[in-house]
Amino acid sequence: MVRVCFVCLGNICRSPTAEGVMRSALESRGLSGSVHVESAGTSGWHVGERPDPRSRAAAATRGVVIDGQAQHFQAKDFARFDYVLAMDAANKEDLLALANGEDEQAKLRLFLDFAPDQQGQDVPDPYYGGANGFEHVLDLCEAACAGLLDHLSARGEV
Ligand code: 4NP
Repeated sequence: MVRVCFVCLGNICRSPTAEGVMRSALESRGLSGSVHVESAGTSGWHVGERPDPRSRAAAATRGVVIDGQAQHFQAKDFARFDYVLAMDAANKEDLLALANGEDEQAKLRLFLDFAPDQQGQDVPDPYYGGANGFEHVLDLCEAACAGLLDHLSARGEV
């Protein structure tokens, strides 16, 4: 089973959204048993908290369930995952500092590199903005999760 961790700063907005969208995409394709999905934050600021109610409400309108408790990504977590997907360049930089050796560095990718039209881009942090930001995060997560599934499928990982 392939193991994926989505990582943002607080693990209450972007990465739980990516996690929920990915679970939903896997379920609709009958692939839930093929991919283990988690999310985490580069900070420990919100550890133990449920996802932001604004993220949950926006996702619910699309039939996507976002739940779980925020966790802080630790250096040892690299060993537990095949893909560590950073929501933005700052998250990726922070994660790179935790990776031990080339094998772990190779697990680290920018999430939107899997969205065909968004390569190299960040998922913008919606925390201090309005409702549009949460919708935009969902749009980006849907595109990148579809691309990620295509990538896993092409590699025979699902
Ligand atoms: P996230 O958003 O990284 O997408 O979960 C944020 C959540 C909380 C904060 C910043 C970003 N914060 O400053 O507490």
